[in-house]
Amino acid sequence: MLALALSFLSVLLLVLLCFAVAIVRNHNYLKAVPKPPGHWILGHLLEFGDPTDFLKKASNCVSNYGGLMRICLPPSWTVVVITDRDVTRKIFEETIDKSTDYDYFKPWLGTGLLTSKGNKWKQRRRLLSPCFGSLELMKGFISVFETLGVELIAKLQNEVGNTNLDLIPFMKRYTLDVLCETSMGVPLTSDGESYRESLENLCGVLVNRLKVPYKRIDSLFRLTEDYHIQKRSIKVIDSFFDEIFEKKLKILNEGRTNNGKRLAFLDLLMEFYKTGELTKEDIRAEVNTIMFGGHDTTAAGLAFTLYTLANNSHVQVILLANNYL
Ligand code: HEM
Repeated sequence: MLALALSFLSVLLLVLLCFAVAIVRNHNYLKAVPKPPGHWILGHLLEFGDPTDFLKKASNCVSNYGGLMRICLPPSWTVVVITDRDVTRKIFEETIDKSTDYDYFKPWLGTGLLTSKGNKWKQRRRLLSPCFGSLELMKGFISVFETLGVELIAKLQNEVGNTNLDLIPFMKRYTLDVLCETSMGVPLTSDGESYRESLENLCGVLVNRLKVPYKRIDSLFRLTEDYHIQKRSIKVIDSFFDEIFEKKLKILNEGRTNNGKRLAFLDLLMEFYKTGELTKEDIRAEVNTIMFGGHDTTAAGLAFTLYTLANNSHVQVILLANNYL
C-alpha cells in the first residue's frame, strides 16, 4: 500500500515538475510579449478560460497591445494572440510547425494535411492541391450538392413555424452527406449512422482533451472513458474506409475505369496509390482529414448564414428578387 502511495506521489511530482518546467520555459521564450494583468497562479484563466467567448475577449483586448499579446492559461498553456499582419507573416516565414495540441488528432487523422508539418506537409500539399482545384471533380459535385440540398429543404419545410429550431444538426447531416459522397464516392445511407455518431464522438473527445488539463497527458487520458470512446469510434471510421478502399483497389487492380461515373476525391488519391506516392494509411489520413475539416466548419457557416437571414427579412426580399434564393 505504501509502495503504491509512494509511486503515485512520484508520478504526481513528476507531472508537477513537467508543468513547472513548461511554465518557466514559456515565460523565458515569451517574456518580451506583452500580457494583460492576471492572477499570479491562475494567470488569465478567470478572464479567458471560457472557450465560448475566448475569441471575442481576446480580439477586443489585443488591439490595446499593438496586435500582439499573450494569455497564460495554467497549468502550462500560453496562447499568443496575433492580429498584426506583418508579425504573422514574419512568424510563418520562420516556421510552419503547429502546436502540440494537434497531436490529439493523430490517432484518428494520422499525419494528413492538418497535422503534418515541415517538408512532409509541403510535399503533400503540392501533391494534393491540384485535386482540390480539379474542374472535372467539381463538375460532378454540383449534382451532389443539389440532390442533397433538395432533401435538406424538404426536412426544413417540416419545421416551418418552429421558432426554436437548432439548425446545427440539420446542417451537419447535410455537410457530412455531401462530404462522404464527394470524398469517398458513397452515400452515407442508414448504415452510416454509426459513422456519423463516431465522428461526433471523436470531435467531442478532442474538445475534452483541449479543455480538461489531465486529459492532455496521454497516460492519464488512457484511464478515462473518453479514451475508450475514441478507440471504439476510430474502429468504426476505419472499417468504413477499409471497405470502400478495398472496392476501389479491386477496380484499380482489374484495370477498370470509372465508366463515366462521377469521380470522388478518393479516386484521384488512388492514382497516387498506383504510382506509389501515397500508401493506404496516407490516403486514410487525408480522407479522414477532409471529413473532419469539411463538415463542422461548413455546417456552422450554413447555420449562421440562415440564422442571420432569418433575422433580416429585408435581405431575404433582396435575395429573392435577384433569384439568389
Ligand atoms: C467555412 C468553412 C471552412 C472553414 C472556416 C475552414 C477553416 C480552416 C482553417 C482555419 C484551417 C487551418 C487549420 C490549421 O492549420 O490549424 C483549415 C485547414 C484545412 N481545411 Fe478547412 N475550413 C473550411 C472548410 C473546409 C472544407 C469544406 C474542407 C474540405 C472539403 C476543408 C479542408 C481543410 C484541410 C484539408 C485543411 C488543412 C490544410 C493544410 O494545412 O494544408 N476545410 N480550414
